[in-house]
Amino acid sequence: MNLIIQENYDKMCEWAAEHIMAAINNHKEDRPFVLGLPTGSSPIGVYKYLIEANKAGKVTFKNVVTFNMDEYVGLERTHDQSYWYFMHDNFFDHIDIPAENINILNGLAEDPELECENYEKKIASYGGIDLFMGGCGVDGHIAFNEPFTSLNSRTGVRVLTEDTRIVNSRFFGNDPEKVPATALSVGVGTVMDSKEVLILINGHNKARALAEVVEGGVSSKWTVSALQLHNNAYIACDEAACGELKVDTYKYFLDVFKGDRL
Ligand code: GLP
Repeated sequence: MNLIIQENYDKMCEWAAEHIMAAINNHKEDRPFVLGLPTGSSPIGVYKYLIEANKAGKVTFKNVVTFNMDEYVGLERTHDQSYWYFMHDNFFDHIDIPAENINILNGLAEDPELECENYEKKIASYGGIDLFMGGCGVDGHIAFNEPFTSLNSRTGVRVLTEDTRIVNSRFFGNDPEKVPATALSVGVGTVMDSKEVLILINGHNKARALAEVVEGGVSSKWTVSALQLHNNAYIACDEAACGELKVDTYKYFLDVFKGDRL
């Protein structure tokens, strides 16, 4: 696992965006570049950077196909907290990606299990995901794979923990009851099958998660820890998230990746 420590949130986002742009620009195959994407507050700075770069002609998304990680069950696309709305508002509406290249799980599907099965099939039809960017919950979850979700899990229906509903209630008038109780989510196994994974972990409130994920054992209690078994996985973080790392871990990664420090 590679841990890229940046001084602050802005630099973490800049590094992540540059990394994604390099991957897209270096992709020389005819088939599209397949990019997995998250919602949440962590990636917002990355999206802003990518939008600017797209407008400046430094990267194009015309040959990029995207698959989002997850979606709440039961929210209309027009609901301002649906992930469909979030992604269009914060990213897709501002870049040159063709609408038909965007894939987001449908949280209103009549048959949610079938929706998830078809999502996996569609990912496979493109030859898999080239780069999956993700965030991390305070309990170390990836997408909506809450603690103790199998590290082999595939796309499916997930029940949100009370903790996650409380954390996400900040977007629902601070009322956890208004946060949908279930979601559709790619599995840990789906993310692990990607050729490359890049997870953003920033802020003091993620310090424990970062330490568990990097220094703890591989455990379904902290589902991001599965990345320890991935051959091409990056975590980009800011200094604030490093508060619970051991000093030698911190120094080790700063030394190994000093060339990446912005
Ligand atoms: C939700 C999403 C995750 C996201 C997490 C952290 O639970 N399903 O994909 O990583 O929130 O969000 P934030 O970046 O706002 O801390």
